[in-house]
Amino acid sequence: MEILEAVPRPDFLIKSISEQGYSLKSAIADLIDNSITANATNIQVLVDSDKEPFKLFLVDDGDGMSRQDLIQNMQFPSSNPETLRETADLGRFGLGLKAASFSQTRQFTVVSRKKGSDKYSAIRWDVEHLVTSKSWQMLVVTDDEIAAMLKEFEALDNEFLNKSESFIPNTFVVWSGLYKFENYLKPQNRKNALAREIVNNTADHLGIVFHRYLEEKNNVNIRVNNTQIKPFNPFPETEQALRKLEFRQKDFGQDNIRLEGFILPSSSIKDSKVSGNVWTLPNKSLLDLEGVYIYRSNRLIIYGGWNGLIRKAPRRQLARLRVDIGNNADNLLHLNVAKSKVIIPHDLVNAFKEYIEELTSEAEKEFYNRGINRLDDKSGAKEATLLTKVHSNKGPLLEINESFPIYKGLLSTLGKNEKSQLRLLNRMINTTINKIRNTHESVHYYKCEEAQTGDLADIIKKLVEQGFSKSFITDEVIKQMGIDVKTLPEEILKLME
Ligand SMILES: Nc1ncnc2c1ncn2[C@@H]1O[C@H](COP(=O)(O)OP(=O)(O)OP(=O)(O)O)[C@@H](O)[C@H]1O
Ligand SMILES: [Mg+2]
Repeated sequence: MEILEAVPRPDFLIKSISEQGYSLKSAIADLIDNSITANATNIQVLVDSDKEPFKLFLVDDGDGMSRQDLIQNMQFPSSNPETLRETADLGRFGLGLKAASFSQTRQFTVVSRKKGSDKYSAIRWDVEHLVTSKSWQMLVVTDDEIAAMLKEFEALDNEFLNKSESFIPNTFVVWSGLYKFENYLKPQNRKNALAREIVNNTADHLGIVFHRYLEEKNNVNIRVNNTQIKPFNPFPETEQALRKLEFRQKDFGQDNIRLEGFILPSSSIKDSKVSGNVWTLPNKSLLDLEGVYIYRSNRLIIYGGWNGLIRKAPRRQLARLRVDIGNNADNLLHLNVAKSKVIIPHDLVNAFKEYIEELTSEAEKEFYNRGINRLDDKSGAKEATLLTKVHSNKGPLLEINESFPIYKGLLSTLGKNEKSQLRLLNRMINTTINKIRNTHESVHYYKCEEAQTGDLADIIKKLVEQGFSKSFITDEVIKQMGIDVKTLPEEILKLME
């Protein structure tokens, strides 16, 4: 059989490989995975947006690489994705460094030295060179150029406030030109767009994705433009009001998977409006943060949303599900290269859904309880609240407060007949509110009391006159008022015959 060589064009292929769904923040996170895996305790990201090409430096004090390791690790891919990795290794594909970098830039350089050595080596990938050479060639950066790059980094570090306490950098990843900002935006918008992306989105993203590493005991520091990234733990277990469901654990390939549901207190709805609260990130709401959180080896892959299992809904905003998995089930989870997506395998979907059902029903109850909590907050001001809490044998109920000023004003302008109609409407609304709050199922909680029969009799007479049937009056009116039809006195029942 005739054989044809099919050598891919490097520049085309690289552009395709880089389209793995990376955003700026997920690309930076992928580089930080490498730093953490290399045992770095200081990771510094500096962005130079004063002049184009924009530059990004990501520097760490981890184990670093010898020249030989560096040459190997710059290859596409640098290792077999199927090899078992150390538990703490955040890598999988042997591609992240290259794919993440090429998703944001057309030229990047990695400068590194083995920890303890004083000589750096540097290797560069450059799309322009690939276009002209049409072959898979990396560039070896000279010692002079390395020295110039380190100087440039120093100078940039000095430009920002709070220059970092000195640490010994071993690896530098340098992106030269952030083409997504430079090519697709108007010149006057580029700098601001980049700054916004870094200050708002990236800082929040890193704070949540790496929160377990950033928390004190783990001793990792990440600084972006010399601002320390603060960890954000979506499960602040030190808060007493945070409730937990019993966890479930299952074997999962060569790993196991652990699900743990949390219900935020209804008070978090109010708290979350204040900046610096424990429940939300500065640029995210409770609603943004409801859903499933999947941790792979302590690094958060997915947060906010239910990953296609159920829909997001405001009434579920107090529900968060924590899922922990190691790094040995990546193929079962269909982890993507950008480490921003997983697919819950078919045989686990039902177990997930069952647990989520239990969790969200608890969270919904908590959500609908908030009206009552709010009343409790200002018990002195009951006169002024629209809804008031009353006690019944079915637990606390909410009712429209007849002393509420607008309501009171309206009542005083009405004749006897309109008054009783308004009260009737009220009763129906009260019942509906309490049904939604789930405090009683379809159980009636009012007996028909003598005092109400006068009003009720008038209304029923009217409805009968207008030709409404008995079943409509009992089902749609009396039951909706929460009255048990069996408790209706004879004279009322007679009216409907
Ligand atoms: N900051 C760093 N310090 C030390 N070694 C590094 C650093 N960054 C990358 N490396 C080395 O380069 C290798 C290749 O990195 P790359 O991100 O491309 O792949 P990976 O981390 O093995 O897998 P993945 O594609 O899942 O990220 C790593 O396995 C690691 O050995
Ligand atoms: Mg990696």
